[in-house]
Amino acid sequence: MHKLQIQGLTKRFGGLTAVNNIDLHMDDNEIIGLIGPNGAGKTTLFNMITGMYIPTSGKLFYQGQDITGIKPYKITDIGIARTFQNIRLFLMMTVLENVLIGLHTRTNTNLFDAITKNKRYRNEEKTSHKRAIEILEMVGLKERKDEYSKNLSYGEQRKLEIARAMASNPGILLLDEPAAGMNDNETAELTRFIKTLKNFGLTVLLIEHDMRLVMNICERIYVFDHGSKIAEGSPKEIQKNQQVIEAYLGKGA
Ligand SMILES: Nc1ncnc2c1ncn2[C@@H]1O[C@H](COP(=O)(O)OP(=O)(O)OP(=O)(O)O)[C@@H](O)[C@H]1O
Ligand SMILES: [Mg+2]
Repeated sequence: MHKLQIQGLTKRFGGLTAVNNIDLHMDDNEIIGLIGPNGAGKTTLFNMITGMYIPTSGKLFYQGQDITGIKPYKITDIGIARTFQNIRLFLMMTVLENVLIGLHTRTNTNLFDAITKNKRYRNEEKTSHKRAIEILEMVGLKERKDEYSKNLSYGEQRKLEIARAMASNPGILLLDEPAAGMNDNETAELTRFIKTLKNFGLTVLLIEHDMRLVMNICERIYVFDHGSKIAEGSPKEIQKNQQVIEAYLGKGA
């Protein structure tokens, strides 16, 4: 049984087939790359895995359980988290607050507890705070915890997004172009960081246009073009695959 298994997944928007009959699987502690030219269907696949889009056809299984068409908040509960291609932070909140928001979906307190600020509530707050600091330490943002998110560098904001996703304590992390807009130093640091995610038992599916990053950290890579999977294999296999070269550089390359 795979940790995540995707069978014949398809998404159509009117006449456009954005994702076409995709098979894909991921296992524990794998870092998997998902690459392909603009409009290939990569983000649409993430949107289906996370329940934001309902597949036109096909199935999704998480640890053997059919999760096709399940609501996004349930997908989070099950253990799948994501970051977005466009940064989605609360810029007027602090770094710590942004992570706490991610944690709040996980607590067991109810509205009554929150209004009365009773012992259960205060204990949960303490636990959440401790956990948020731990996560910020993992991504290297602990020292910046009280900074407004809008004051972070681009690379730091991307890391904060990952921190917030990790707050739900996921088994699978989907990263949509985490290195976009980063400079070389930030990308190198992010590369090291993503590698360490394996130590926390995470499986990572990484959409990324930075080929050096992908080839550097992914054990297996899937390549999409126009919604279809055109190749899968190790970084070495992908680099010499003629269809992949053509998809990126055009025929005759
Ligand atoms: N909600 C939507 N409604 C209509 N068409 C959509 C929708 N979402 C995506 N598409 C289309 O589906 C195709 C795949 O888009 P998608 O965003 O998945 O590509 P991508 O591989 O993530 O590209 P990029 O590398 O540019 O982010 C595109 O043609 C896009 O315009
Ligand atoms: Mg995309």
